[in-house]
Amino acid sequence: MPDILVEGTYKLNGSVKVQGAKNSVLPIIAATVLCGGVCHIENCPKLSDVDASVKILEHLGAKCHFSGNILSIDPSGINDYVIPDNLMREMRSSSLFLGAILGRMGKARISSPGGCELGPRPIDLHIKSLKCLGADVIEHNGCVSLDVQNGLIGKEIHLSFPSVGATENTILAAVTAKGVTIIDNAAKEPEIEDLADFLKSAGAKIYGAGNDRIIVEGVKRLSSATHKIIPDRIVAATYISCVSSTGGDIELKDVNPAHIRSIISLYKEAGCEFSETTDSIRVKSNRRLKSVSTVRTLTYPGFPTDAGPALISSLSIAKGTTIFVENIFQNRFRYIDELKRFGANVQTEDRVAIIKGVKNLSGAVCECPDLRGGSALLVAALAARGNSVIKKTEHIKRGYEDIVFDISNLGGHILYI
Ligand code: EPZ
Repeated sequence: MPDILVEGTYKLNGSVKVQGAKNSVLPIIAATVLCGGVCHIENCPKLSDVDASVKILEHLGAKCHFSGNILSIDPSGINDYVIPDNLMREMRSSSLFLGAILGRMGKARISSPGGCELGPRPIDLHIKSLKCLGADVIEHNGCVSLDVQNGLIGKEIHLSFPSVGATENTILAAVTAKGVTIIDNAAKEPEIEDLADFLKSAGAKIYGAGNDRIIVEGVKRLSSATHKIIPDRIVAATYISCVSSTGGDIELKDVNPAHIRSIISLYKEAGCEFSETTDSIRVKSNRRLKSVSTVRTLTYPGFPTDAGPALISSLSIAKGTTIFVENIFQNRFRYIDELKRFGANVQTEDRVAIIKGVKNLSGAVCECPDLRGGSALLVAALAARGNSVIKKTEHIKRGYEDIVFDISNLGGHILYI
C-alpha cells in the first residue's frame, strides 16, 4: 500500500457519508455459510478484511460477487469445513466462521487465530460455548478441530465476559441447533443486533439481541436474505476526532447517533458542538479542545476501545491533562511511540495513558502498528504543523474504505504518494 502524505492544520468543512460497519459485515459474511440461497449484503464497505472473508467463503465453495457496495454470496456450493492457515493468518476474526461452518457441516477446523497487534486474542469463550452446544473440540498442533456427532443441541450458556466474537459465534451455532439456546451476559454492541437482523431475515428465530440475554430458537434451515449493513460507528468517531483536531464544521451522513452516545458526550465535554437528525450528525469545532475527565473503555454502551486511539490524538493538543484507561485489550497503546514523533506528551503505564495537552504538534514520518493506531496517527498528522508521511497504511485499509478520499473531500490536504 502507498504511503499517505498529509499537510496539516487545514480545517475540515462539508459533508461525508459514513461507510457500512466493518464489525457488522464480517460476522454477517460468516453467517451466509448457514443460508440456503443467494444473499445480498448492501452498504458493504470495500475493505481488506472483507476481501479476506470473501477469500475464505470462496475457499469453502461459495460464489461471491461485488457490484458497487452490494456483495452477493451464493453459499449453495459450500462443501468444505477447513479454513487453511494462510487464510486464518490474514484476519484473526476468521474465528467468526467457526459457529456457522459447524452449523452447516457438522464439523470445522481452523488454525489457532493466535495473537494480533492488540495482544493475545484467545477464543476460549468461543470454544466453551460451542462445547456447551455439543461440539467435541480437539486443540492440537496449533489447530482447533470441532465435531458434532449428534448435531448441535440448544443450551443455556453464561459468558464470563460479554465477548463480541463469542456472542456472535454462539448465535451462529445456535440458529440451526435443536431446541432453544439462552445466552447470558451476551455482548450488547449494535453489530450483534445487526447480525441478528440479518439472520432473522433469513428465517432465524432470535430474541433480545442488543441486550445481555439473547434467546435463540433453533430452526431447520435458513433461506436467502438481503440486508443493509448499519453505519460504522468507529469510522464516525474517527471523523469526529479529525474535525475536533483541525477545527471546522462537518456533517456525517448515514450514521446512527444512538450508536455513538458515549463518543458524542466525550467530544462535547472537550468543547465540540453537536446537532443531529435520525441519520446524521453535525460537528463544529471552533476552539482548542479542553481535557476531559478520566476516560475508561468499556463494553457497549460504554466508550468503545476502538475509538480510543483517535481520541488520544485529539486530546494530545487539548488544554490540560486527561487520564485514559484501556480496559478491553492488553496492548492497545503500541501507536503511542509513533504519536510522540509529532511532539505529543503521552505517558503510558500498563493500560493507563496520561495525555498532557501541548499547544501544537509538528509533522513527522510515522508507521501504523495496527488499524486504529493508524487512524490515530492520521488524526495527529491532520492537526500537525507541516508535512507528515504515514507508512504501513495497509493497516488503515483493513477498516476504512477510503479515508484519504473522504478527508480530502472535506478540505484536508491529504493524498497517497
Ligand atoms: C470485536 O473483537 C471487534 N472486532 C473489535 O474491533 C473490538 O475492539 C472488540 O470486539 C471489542 O468491542 C470485530 O468485531 C471483528 P471481544 P473481538 O471478544 O470479538 C478477550 C477493530 O479495530 N477475549 O469482545 O475479538 C479478548 O482477548 C477491532 O475494529 C477472551 O479472553 O472482541 C479481549 O481482551 C479490534 N477470550 C476482550 O475479551 C475470548 O474467547 C474483548 O474481546 C474472547 C475474547
